[in-house]
Amino acid sequence: VRRIGVLTGGGDCPGLNAVIRAVVKTAIREYRLSVVGFENGFGGLIQNRARELTEADVAGILPRGGTILGTTNRDNPFSYPMIINGQKVFRDVSDRVVENINIHGIDALIIIGGDGSLTIGKELFEKKGLQVVGVPKTIDNDLSATDQTFGFDTALNTATEAIDKLHTTAESHHRVMILEVMGRYAGWIALESGIAGGADVILIPEIPYRIEKVIEKIIERRNLGKKFSLVVVAEGAKPLGGEMVIQRRVEDSFEPIRLGGIGNAVASQIEEGTGMETRVTVLGHLQRGGIPTAFDRILATRYGTGAVNLVMAGKFGEMVCLRTPHIMSVPLAEAVGELRLVPVDGDIVRTAKQVGISFGD
Ligand code: F6P
Repeated sequence: VRRIGVLTGGGDCPGLNAVIRAVVKTAIREYRLSVVGFENGFGGLIQNRARELTEADVAGILPRGGTILGTTNRDNPFSYPMIINGQKVFRDVSDRVVENINIHGIDALIIIGGDGSLTIGKELFEKKGLQVVGVPKTIDNDLSATDQTFGFDTALNTATEAIDKLHTTAESHHRVMILEVMGRYAGWIALESGIAGGADVILIPEIPYRIEKVIEKIIERRNLGKKFSLVVVAEGAKPLGGEMVIQRRVEDSFEPIRLGGIGNAVASQIEEGTGMETRVTVLGHLQRGGIPTAFDRILATRYGTGAVNLVMAGKFGEMVCLRTPHIMSVPLAEAVGELRLVPVDGDIVRTAKQVGISFGD
């Protein structure tokens, strides 16, 4: 291996730049490789938008949020949208990816992404024979094959800080404050920020809630003289027997996910049920921005270095993962498609319940 490629795919996430920096530094310093960065995720790989990455290009980016390479949720090479005769159609353009990889003389490709991007990586490896290595990224922390994805810790701290701030205003106004956080399928951000911030109610996708139970908890607090309450809701939380209210991303479409649906729905029901003033904060993409925490910078650096080590060991079709305290690897085929959900009877939910947090169940 002489030359490697790298790209960032899917939603952005604090720590992406730290991974890119570690890849470039390790490749150049340790193994004397050259590195090519593809721009805007798989789009750059399809349209051949690429640039050489030197140590100068990655200088100073360790603490910066976002990604110097750009990213997008679109542009799956196996199902690429194009307009033909005024009609939007999807085509397999994966041969173009192979061509562009060859044009640049790239021997191995490091894909930094979540479940969607890593699934594409797996297919490029299996169907196109590309020498791919994956790095697990998502603020949702819902990839099963690793103890933790980078980006989660930063999002968790952002959400916890928001709860701390909501606490003081809730207390002053005797209000119920609802904080809606990200987490479509897994409630890790809601669960852990809720515990860290001392929330009274946490609603997560894994535990369907009953609004009566939530109202009961708030009234019980009021009866104890606590005139305010804090509720953390994951965007994918759903009532028992009900549906998720967020718009799901339809495969291959450009439909954005609209946040705020569940937060507002829960707020009006609580206001009606308790007669207390209720306000909603939708934390949204604040959770994806900003400087990564020290934990995420370290994890991202270990993943970046680990990915280059995997390439040099010839372990293609694998993803770096954290098996605390070690950085190890796992086949992409095992890593994708399996979401790591909050175990509903697990220790952490039990702990939360034991300190009086209600899950509305
Ligand atoms: O998967 C990461 C995530 O931040 C989810 O928590 C959220 O549902 C989604 O991305 C939002 O995507 P977009 O930025 O495309 O609206």
